[in-house]
Amino acid sequence: MAFPVHRGRRLRRTEAVRAMVRETELNSRDFILPFFVVHGRKVRREISSMPGNYQLSIDEFLKEAVETYQLGIPAVILFGIPDQKDPLGSAGHSEKGIVQQAIRQLKKELPELYVITDVCLCEYTDHGHCGKITDGEVDNDATVELLVKQALSHAQAGADMVAPSDMMDGRVGAIRTGLDENGFSQVPIMSYAAKYASAFYGPFREAAESAPAFGDRRGYQMDPPNLREAMREVALDIEEGADIIMVKPAMFYLDIVYRAKVEFGMPLAVYNVSGEFTMIKSAAQLERIDEKAILTEVLTGFKRAGADLIITYFAKDVARGL
Ligand code: PBG
Repeated sequence: MAFPVHRGRRLRRTEAVRAMVRETELNSRDFILPFFVVHGRKVRREISSMPGNYQLSIDEFLKEAVETYQLGIPAVILFGIPDQKDPLGSAGHSEKGIVQQAIRQLKKELPELYVITDVCLCEYTDHGHCGKITDGEVDNDATVELLVKQALSHAQAGADMVAPSDMMDGRVGAIRTGLDENGFSQVPIMSYAAKYASAFYGPFREAAESAPAFGDRRGYQMDPPNLREAMREVALDIEEGADIIMVKPAMFYLDIVYRAKVEFGMPLAVYNVSGEFTMIKSAAQLERIDEKAILTEVLTGFKRAGADLIITYFAKDVARGL
């Protein structure tokens, strides 16, 4: 059907008709908002590289959680900053750990809010790497054991879902077994399946106080040029029992999102990471871009590429504006 029979512009003439044929829509029901919890009371420390985001003590976090839920955002993902770090990240699986305490209190006050926890050791180790170090390298199998303990302690505290972000081999299967053997067969795993070694995590590392003290994370996170490898990682995580797969970062990795959606058809999440947030926020603060319009376009792009869920520091802004 060629011109003049076909005229694409007919369906673009008014907002009413554009809305009728629109293929993708944002819904605050698909958003997950990250939080950084710290020990103490009345702590509300703004993260300088991520304007509008804070390290919050549990009392302050609870207030924010209520607001988040009232805005129609169904889920949060929690990151903890412990008061003590050690080589094994022991505070990460302590019953009295910061995330475990935050979940318990949140579940008392607002059980409806869906609580996802990030499972990783980097915030808890004194060297800032995502696992136990043996001979200068992150020791995969020893780390997996610690991650299982951490995931289990989150589930015991009442977490609705766990999300391992460490990129150790075999951790999804080990966590699945650990949860199942302890009565948590109903707790889903959202795996950071294709997580790249990205410079876009820079601001997060300030927020979570988790920058590696030596070296970098390229020995465990993926090499950004690789797409086929990402498909293998996703396939493995699904085989090991992942319920939701995640691609991270999001904005410049939509080819990965699209391919993973087409190949596997699984529920898929993207993590719109700290550096992506900061780029947009900073440009908006300089009044060089229209934040709301750009944000809508960026987040819609995630959905168009195949994302079902979007983890984003913009969740509240979007929920307010939609
Ligand atoms: C690891 C973790 C990181 C992020 C989420 N989980 C940091 C890293 O891998 O260095 C990054 C999130 C962001 O940049 O917003 N616990």
